[in-house]
Amino acid sequence: MSQLLVRGGGSLTGEVAVQGAKNSVLPILAATLLTGGQVELRGCPRLRDVDASIRILKTLGCDARWEGDSLLADTAGLNRCAVSDILMREMRSSAIFLGAILARCGEAEMSYPGGCELGPRPIDLHLAGLRDLGAEIRDSGGMLRCRASRLRGRDLVLSLPSVGATENLMLAACGAEGVTTIANAAREPEIVDLQEFLNACGAAVSGAGTSTVTVVGKRPLHGCTYEIMPDRIVAATYLCAAASAGGEIYLRKARESQLSTVTAVLREAGCVVRADRDGVGCVCRGRLGSVRPVRTAPYPGFPTDAQAVLMAALLRSRGATVFEETIFENRYRHVDELVRMGADIRVAGRVAVVTGTEILRGAPVRCTDLRGGAALCVAALAAEGETSIAEISHIDRGYECIEKDLRTLGADIVRTELTI
Ligand code: EPZ
Repeated sequence: MSQLLVRGGGSLTGEVAVQGAKNSVLPILAATLLTGGQVELRGCPRLRDVDASIRILKTLGCDARWEGDSLLADTAGLNRCAVSDILMREMRSSAIFLGAILARCGEAEMSYPGGCELGPRPIDLHLAGLRDLGAEIRDSGGMLRCRASRLRGRDLVLSLPSVGATENLMLAACGAEGVTTIANAAREPEIVDLQEFLNACGAAVSGAGTSTVTVVGKRPLHGCTYEIMPDRIVAATYLCAAASAGGEIYLRKARESQLSTVTAVLREAGCVVRADRDGVGCVCRGRLGSVRPVRTAPYPGFPTDAQAVLMAALLRSRGATVFEETIFENRYRHVDELVRMGADIRVAGRVAVVTGTEILRGAPVRCTDLRGGAALCVAALAAEGETSIAEISHIDRGYECIEKDLRTLGADIVRTELTI
């Protein structure tokens, strides 16, 4: 089993290119099923979650293979419409395949995606929307059996702006007769990337990035070549790493327009953040200041995925910062591990209060989830001595090679085999 060893105390300097976005490529891989053709995804990140999606495509009879940093998918050979329980359990966001399989095959079968480290991950909004489009869905014994002889476009309204439900319904609507509108849709940049991909394949999707997405269904779709957008949460992670360790970094490809709530907090804490057309630079000198309460919210609010890494960056700030996690029930699992390093964090329900301390000490810690694991790296950069971070497979779900990127920025971090 691998671990990361981090020796803290040094500052970061240098430049690194930001990888392709995990939360964009996963729904786009599901969308390739709609084309029945060949798709080249450029800038596709090599992640455990992408590997899991490739296994799902192959189990459905499709082909997918790497060529450099492009992923080539060919979905002409689709000959199954069921995803095994084992594959579903590998990645709870596999539910995103449901709409696309239904639109392409008229039926779909998969096990109920389980919860994850962040708490229950219901898909009731996905299923309600698919039923409104005409799908018959039976869930028994943990299995979802869906049939849709024909999907009909409808005006849908989401009770909350769910990212996954918006994406699933966009894909199903591509296979529906007539026009579908999705009101109270999620507005994340990854939804816009999905729209741009679908339109590059011949679809007619509009409104992504606003609260109402419109899909004209039953358009003949074809393969395409598409460049995946840069990962805004990876960019946020590295900005928080610079804030934590101090120094001056530049993130090529990062787009501040997609990060503005994060850069606003970093500026308030005392970092100098500058954006240009090619990326985002950040200079952090001296001890950070605490900031006004940070409340996570659907885009364009503060991203829940950046909550843990920002918390880690503020562990040695002057004063106290209040966090409120409004999206997921259980997204403070990294706190106990940070406290082992000397952090002063008090959690009460969805609120966490971080009081800055002078010193953080390296310690043996373990990842509890993807972004919590990244937060341990951020904190370890500012800790005295060595921190060993175990269970880093969580981190590898969303970061291509976090230690390579941080080392490029001057961090003392290596991946080693854990000797028990
Ligand atoms: C996506 O998850 C992202 N994952 C998450 O990133 C991200 O944290 C989340 O959006 C919020 O931005 C991918 O894109 C693969 P939601 P998703 O549906 O689609 C509730 C990471 O670290 N809900 O917007 O699952 C749900 O319980 C991951 O990269 C329902 O109640 O998020 C949650 O409380 C973690 N019923 C809230 O909505 C539903 O049918 C937001 O969930 C669907 C969701």
